[in-house]
Amino acid sequence: MYSFTIFDKIVLDGDIMKDFYKLLHEKIKNALDKTEYCDEQIVVSESNRRDLGEYQYNGAMNLAKKYHKNPNDIAKEIVDYLKEDSFFLSVSVASPGFINMTISPVALVEVLNSQTFNYEKKEETIFLDYGGANVAKSLHVGHLRSANIGEALNRLCKFLGYNTISDTHLGDWGRPLGLVILELSKRYPEWSYFNPNYDGIYEDVPITNNLLEEIYPYASNKAKEDEKYLKEAQEMTKRLQNNEKGIIDLWYKIMDISKTDIKKIYDRLNANFDLYKGESDAEKYVPELLSYLDNLDIVIESDGAKVIPVKEESDKLEIPPMLLVKSDGGILYSTTELATIYERIKNYQPDEIWYIVDKRQSLHFTQVFRASKKANITPNTNLVFAGFGTMNGSDGKPFKTRDGGVMRLTDLLDIVKDECLKRLNPNIVDNRDEIAEKIAMSAVKYADLLPNRESDYIFDIEKFCDLEGKTGPFILYSTIRMKSLLNKAKENNITYQKMYLIDNEYDKEVVLLLNNLDSVLNKAFNSKSLNDITDYLYKLTTSYNRFYTENIILKETNELKRESWLYLTNKVYEVNKLLLDILAIQIPEKM
Ligand code: ARG
Repeated sequence: MYSFTIFDKIVLDGDIMKDFYKLLHEKIKNALDKTEYCDEQIVVSESNRRDLGEYQYNGAMNLAKKYHKNPNDIAKEIVDYLKEDSFFLSVSVASPGFINMTISPVALVEVLNSQTFNYEKKEETIFLDYGGANVAKSLHVGHLRSANIGEALNRLCKFLGYNTISDTHLGDWGRPLGLVILELSKRYPEWSYFNPNYDGIYEDVPITNNLLEEIYPYASNKAKEDEKYLKEAQEMTKRLQNNEKGIIDLWYKIMDISKTDIKKIYDRLNANFDLYKGESDAEKYVPELLSYLDNLDIVIESDGAKVIPVKEESDKLEIPPMLLVKSDGGILYSTTELATIYERIKNYQPDEIWYIVDKRQSLHFTQVFRASKKANITPNTNLVFAGFGTMNGSDGKPFKTRDGGVMRLTDLLDIVKDECLKRLNPNIVDNRDEIAEKIAMSAVKYADLLPNRESDYIFDIEKFCDLEGKTGPFILYSTIRMKSLLNKAKENNITYQKMYLIDNEYDKEVVLLLNNLDSVLNKAFNSKSLNDITDYLYKLTTSYNRFYTENIILKETNELKRESWLYLTNKVYEVNKLLLDILAIQIPEKM
């Protein structure tokens, strides 16, 4: 129990506090200003020795070098000034000059009561490229991370006040589509779409998503074995790229069917895109891009192809030139990529473009980004490749179906859903399916966002769906329990306005963790990785659960305590809700 009265109120200077660390930072700066020392980079961190203090400032060691003095003496001088501030309960020096600070519980309470979650609107626009589904092919597990990480980063940017534009960048052009259309022409040669001289109205055709999903792998394998078929596919791709009327019409049909299916999966993952553009949209800008590039001295001929050399002296690995136009005049993934940048700059003028794509595509992006810089297409735009690692099977290799094939994303989501349905509390009778779906998505998403963006991880359905441990279901369950406590308070007409006091080490730990919210969000933003958020959610939730187990909240007879605890519960509930929403995880009504 801390001894202080709730009446010795501490006035926090300046604005309503959002970032606790900024406040701490200022306190140290104020103390330093009274000394002869100047630290340009004040860093305050959580202490890893809680017994000595909650926060740490280690600047005295650097100042000692700068001012040729003993770090202990410098630290002591700073501490003398810090001690004058009632914000601190205690401040002390540990050899050779660490400053340990413990915050006054009164101050902690004040900070908590004034905490807001609003960020100022910012000028910058961040364009996010994620999703990356391919038309006429089913989404596979490789597309999972792009959707999850991308959507969460998009929501994080928005929350921090940035303008964002999100685009799926569909793979809807070129070879794969040529293959699919060729195979359709083999199976249904009578369709008028394939007759270049036809000028009537095209008939309805029985294309379904299942048919497309069957056709693509078939045609792709056949082209590998059968040279004649491959040639024909190339021919068909050309006819598509030359905008032959019937072929384009058929392509639109394929696009429609495929997009509907793609959207269904993205809906399940709660991924929303402002734009459903794709390679085909960029293709329209290729002639303009090529003539723009022709006026620059950067495109060279190589074996009949047009390429942009992009290697730099400091390269440790050989970076081959970016292929712009093939010797047969065809264009490639890199061509539409560069044209997409060209188009995005023209139409949206983003300050940054973030690509959330499998890290195995890093060479492609290095080439395209360098070409774009060289061609001065992006003088004011920062191009960022945020590559991610793979989801692997228990063998440590990219996740496969039992028979060794690539698993469709829908199938994977269904497997997880079945598992969650099986584990669902039998007392829940209504909406079982809907609830299991939400829990399943939380399991998949949380597990997907838990490792650092660049790390690989292993798919482990038992672990992901577990109610205990670092899992989506655990966070959801605990969050729902907070809500039900708050509901009970409401039913009993117990209201809570603010926090009055910190009573014990458990509520204190929760309050301290809440102070980290802003730095967690900013860390995630800077690293473009969600692991800081998933980690924090777990820490905050477990710390809250400990507090919940140690204290009987609703039955507490001391009103100030009870109100404080309910207020704290509500705060944690709000933070959990906010963070789950950033991760695009939905909370079911019950579990
Ligand atoms: N469709 C591509 C694939 O499945 C991913 C697209 C990523 N985005 C991009 N701008 N290239 O591999």
